[in-house]
Amino acid sequence: MNQEHKLGAVTWAKRGSFILAATGSSVGLGNIWKFPYIAGQNGGGAFVLMYIGMVLLVGIPILLAELVLGRRGRASPINTMRALSRETHSSRFWTIIGWMGALCGLMILSFYSVAAGWVLAYFDHALRGDFRGLDGSGSLTLFANLLANRDLLLLLHTVFILMTVVVLALGVKKGLESAIRWMMPSLFALVIVLLVAATIEGEFAQSLRYMFSFKLSDITWESALIAMGHSFFTLSVGMGAIIAYGAYTPRDMSVGRTVLAVAFLDTCVALGVGVAIFAFVFATPGISPSQGPGLMFVTLPVAFGGLPAGDVIASIFFGMVILAAWTSTISLLEPSIAYLTETFKMHRAASSALLGFVAWLLGVGAALSFNDWAHVEILWGKTFFDTMDFVASNILLPLGGLLIALFVGWRMSAQQLNQEVDLAGSRIMRIWRLLLRYLSPLAILIIFVYSILPVLQAVFGE
Ligand code: TRP
Repeated sequence: MNQEHKLGAVTWAKRGSFILAATGSSVGLGNIWKFPYIAGQNGGGAFVLMYIGMVLLVGIPILLAELVLGRRGRASPINTMRALSRETHSSRFWTIIGWMGALCGLMILSFYSVAAGWVLAYFDHALRGDFRGLDGSGSLTLFANLLANRDLLLLLHTVFILMTVVVLALGVKKGLESAIRWMMPSLFALVIVLLVAATIEGEFAQSLRYMFSFKLSDITWESALIAMGHSFFTLSVGMGAIIAYGAYTPRDMSVGRTVLAVAFLDTCVALGVGVAIFAFVFATPGISPSQGPGLMFVTLPVAFGGLPAGDVIASIFFGMVILAAWTSTISLLEPSIAYLTETFKMHRAASSALLGFVAWLLGVGAALSFNDWAHVEILWGKTFFDTMDFVASNILLPLGGLLIALFVGWRMSAQQLNQEVDLAGSRIMRIWRLLLRYLSPLAILIIFVYSILPVLQAVFGE
């Protein structure tokens, strides 16, 4: 049965490449930029606890479901879903998982690449020692000047898309796999160096207390929902990136252990980088950890600027963020590139360039959102950048995750699942199926309704 779907028929050349690639996809700006500031805004330890709960209950089950889909279909998410809906005698409707995912990947890439461009600019500042002696208002001005500089934002966005396209154009093994094999170990090494620096120069103990102690009263309904939404984004589930990477996995892989490893590494990087960031922030008088989105681009540079060897630490930090973002952006395009290559027999280089161009074009709108188009509202009070983020992260990802959970939970037989997961008949397998059938869909529906509520309010008035 499986043979006939072998459209792609590429397999990772080396052991462990899937773990590295999937971890590369999941560790990104979500972990380093977003996680620490939403943790800071939502009560520190209380949020961390809920986030870990959501990763276990919703994130991991759907991550495993995507991997199973990819292994069964062995093709791009769109063709995988087409083949599997046939195999399970289900409606062609389920192919929408692939189409929505491809669209969602382009949308995420558009704003992600603009934000990754800011990281390039900050890496350059760090190398030049621009943070030395920076104070709060100086830092705010530095960031505001960057956002106002349209041409620079466009240039940096273009550079990041080109970096992404080059890796993808070289193919699955020569491009993606060989890039991942050096980038991920370097990323891990840099995270460890940062942690060591944080223990030496930062307020490490205070940071640990901040991240891991909590009051029960800090656990709120709202932060639980934010934690759930973030568990999707951070693990890269809901748009088919893991389906695409899963299609390249060898048959004899320990699937359960692999999924746990990816989620574990993703969480470790989020927590480790979070602890390091707060340790540096606490070491600096006059700045606070709950600053919101400006934490990485406004607060942290001030902290770096006051530390001995701060230039070096800042360069290591922003260099690390570039690697993390880069291994994420390549996973956002892989599903649609794989689709064009296998369906229309397009050359990898041509399909990569074409899709890179589409993402670039959308990203122009995202870059202009901070200057020329700052007052252009696309959706109720949202700029182009915010609209892309909102529609992709709050609508398409949960919807994709919901459909994936329902398809794997209800349309695939126990026998089919057992052929793809090496846990046949175990209790874990039964729990996983129950989560996919009931709990994950329910949880997703709740976040989904919650996140579109403000929009409904905006549309229908008070
Ligand atoms: N997980 C990445 C991060 O945390 C972003 C990302 C990459 C992503 N690929 C994805 C998010 C696919 C959702 C779907 O930064």
